This record gives sequence, C-alpha cells and structure tokens, in this order.
Amino acid sequence: MAPGRPACYKAGSSSKETEMSKLFRNPVFCGLDTHDLDEAEQLAQALAPVVGGLKLGLEFFYAFGRSGYERIADTGVPIFLDLKLHDIPNTVRGGIRSLLSLQPAILNVHASGGIEMMRAAREAVDDEGDGRPWIIGVTVLTSLDEADIVRMGISGSPSDQVRRLAGAAQEAGLDGVVCSAHEVERLRRDCGNDFKLIVPGIRPRGSETHDQKRVMTPGDALAHGADILVIGRPIIRAADPAHAAQTILEDLPPAA
Ligand code: C5P
Repeated sequence: MAPGRPACYKAGSSSKETEMSKLFRNPVFCGLDTHDLDEAEQLAQALAPVVGGLKLGLEFFYAFGRSGYERIADTGVPIFLDLKLHDIPNTVRGGIRSLLSLQPAILNVHASGGIEMMRAAREAVDDEGDGRPWIIGVTVLTSLDEADIVRMGISGSPSDQVRRLAGAAQEAGLDGVVCSAHEVERLRRDCGNDFKLIVPGIRPRGSETHDQKRVMTPGDALAHGADILVIGRPIIRAADPAHAAQTILEDLPPAA
C-alpha cells in the first residue's frame, strides 16, 4: 500500500459539514464500472486529484480481488467498496473484518438482512476508532418496482420500504443508507442530519440517462440533502474523464 493513503475517515461527528470536508475533498464518488484493470487504474490516476472518492463493486472485486483493489487505492483516493454483504450476522461480521486491512472509506450491507446483521456489521468496525469505514445500508434496489416488492411479500410502495429499512439501519447504528435522489428529502427529514445519504442515479443537466430511470442533477440532489453522489458513466465514458468530473464539481452550489 502506498504511504500517504488517506487513512482517517471519521464518522458520526455532530458537525456534519466540517466532518464531510475533512474526510472527502468533495461529494462526488465516481463508479469505476469497467472490466479492464488497466483502464480502471488509468481512470483512478486521472480522477484521484479531482473526485472525492471512487466506488469499486462486485464485478471489479470478484475479477481482480485485493491486488486489483490495491492498485486503485494506491492512487491515494478514498474508496467506497460496494460489495453489499448479506448473510447471517456472524458471517457478515467476519466478512467486514476481513476487508478492514484494505482501509476502505465506505462499506455496505443489505439492510434487508435485518437489524442483528447490521449490528454485527457495525460491531465489526468498533475497534477501528476514528479511522473506521462508514457502514452503509442498501435499502431497496432501484431495479425493483412496486410489483416486484409485492411479489416478495412486502406491502406499500418501494419508498415506504426504503423508509422502513433506513429506520432499521439507523436503529442498528449504521452510518447511513444508499437511496435514490427522490427519497433523499424524506430520509433527511426523518433520519436527521448526521445520517449519511449516498445517492446514485445522478446525471448532470443535459447528459444521457443510460439505464437510470429516475435521475436528478448533482446540484438538486445536494440541495435535497444528499451527502455523497455516485456518478459513473457521465464521467468514465467522457472523452476526458477528469475534465467531466471537474465540470460537474464546478456546477455544484458553493456550499457543497
Ligand atoms: O453510470 P451510473 O452513473 O449510472 O452509475 C451509477 C453507479 O451506482 C453504478 O455503479 C451502479 O451500479 C450504482 N448503483 C445504482 N443504483 C443503485 C445502487 C447502485 O446505480 N440503486
């Protein structure tokens, strides 16, 4: 691991704005969704001086493992390791502990795994002190609509289910949840200012939506109360990804 990798990501401070700006240079985390490790590393090197962090997911981690992760992390950028753990509490606790030596800034678990599972995930980082990663709950996958969740035996709208799962995540001591931009306002109001809201489905004004159905601009998502914006294709598919990320940042409201 390169010396100087930012290791300290304080979570749970009461002074949110100060806390966030101490941890991450800005709220934009770029999703490095590519099958090509060399391309991912080049993107990471280009984006590291610009973005607040990078997100690596299942596809990347299963293909390239810890050594691939370290090639990206060695650029010094904070990493959201988006592995969405979901298993019995003891296994999730062990899984999170196994990831800690990678020093991710953010890890996540499915909130539908239950309160005890989320508590176990949170306990797994208790001994890490101020340098611990945030543990974030995944609420309802945005690929599921109301008919899908009814078939799973869940009543109410996806947004009601997001609210229920966010409440459970908060009760279990998680740092926040992943949610769509359209749920941010309600969750910010109901869960308070310290609860982190991580938001994908973000599109700069005028850019292609790809397969995202309900998008929001970066500025609007922040205005509604988002903490971290996960943006993939509008950055990594641009001719000049660093410039695309910079342009997004320049369009954010000054307070962000
Ligand atoms: O390219 P795009 O900006 O749509 O990428 C968004 C990133 O956020 C992708 O890595 C995607 O898997 C992830 N994500 C999402 N919707 C969710 C959860 C994660 O788009 N509900």
